[in-house]
Amino acid sequence: MTTDVEPASIPVSAPAAPPRRRIFSGIQPSGIVHLGNDLGAIRNYVALQAEFEAIYCIVDYHALTSLHDADVLRRGTREMAASLQQPDDLNHGLLTYPVLQAADIVIYKATTVPVGKDQAAHLELTREIVRAFNNRYGETFPEQQAVFTETPTVLGTDGVRKMSKSLGNTIEILAEPEVIRKQVMSMVTDTQRILRTDPGRPEVCNVCQLHRWFGPDWEEIQDGERTARTGCVDTKKLLAERITRHYAPARERYLELMANPAEIDGILEAGADRLRPKAEATMAEVRERMGLR
Ligand code: AMP
Ligand code: TRP
Repeated sequence: MTTDVEPASIPVSAPAAPPRRRIFSGIQPSGIVHLGNDLGAIRNYVALQAEFEAIYCIVDYHALTSLHDADVLRRGTREMAASLQQPDDLNHGLLTYPVLQAADIVIYKATTVPVGKDQAAHLELTREIVRAFNNRYGETFPEQQAVFTETPTVLGTDGVRKMSKSLGNTIEILAEPEVIRKQVMSMVTDTQRILRTDPGRPEVCNVCQLHRWFGPDWEEIQDGERTARTGCVDTKKLLAERITRHYAPARERYLELMANPAEIDGILEAGADRLRPKAEATMAEVRERMGLR
């Protein structure tokens, strides 16, 4: 449609853009990054950083609950930094104890926290702490919301429990292709599909579900399983290939960074330097409100 109405005149001084809201999330330096981390959280780290000011932390203090070897912790932190490859958005975290996760979030006054479903209860606790603080000392912290991806809980290769390093049911997305292949080939599919000729149930098959995120033809793949046109082995082989291909550029960057630990340390330090003033400003405000200065 065309129109001969004059376009609105441009205001002389455009109103200042409102400050971008802040998101925060943390990930433990466990040494590996698995498909649950990516589909459950990391994809949202990436998607949300255009809309929000983003702060992502490798939470080394959190790892102290299960990891007591300084060199292993240092290595795990570097590995996670290289895995995430978001050089501007990493830091060691300036943390306090004992309610570490809440402290991580509120110290940067984050409003939005991209995490997997397993963190929902932690976020609820964070909100309770925030409410208690705000009630006693006045509005200081925003109440934060968890945001989930379309796959808030990714099941492990056992097809039953959530994918988790401690359960040994992961698909390690930056591992060598052979490791990814073995992990995918070990996946439990529809346990009721016993014979190759039995029809499958893609809605309960973890392999079929994961195909959704690795190609536009996932419905066709699911249909192949439903009608027994294809077998589980072929569907798994295809998934392993696609996962390997999807993460190949990330793996290349990961290996490049891992060959240069000084570069990773520099990235982490720069992130910490960038965030320190924000954390210090919050702590100054908190002490003031509490009468500690
Ligand atoms: P972690 O490796 O435990 O520090 O987890 C890092 C992020 O990945 C957190 O936001 C978790 O909620 C998320 N995550 C871990 N495992 C899964 C999973 N199996 N499904 C969905 N999200 C997950
Ligand atoms: N507890 C989270 C996990 O195990 C990691 C984490 C620590 C975190 N601090 C955070 C996540 C702050 C979100 C916000 O996965």
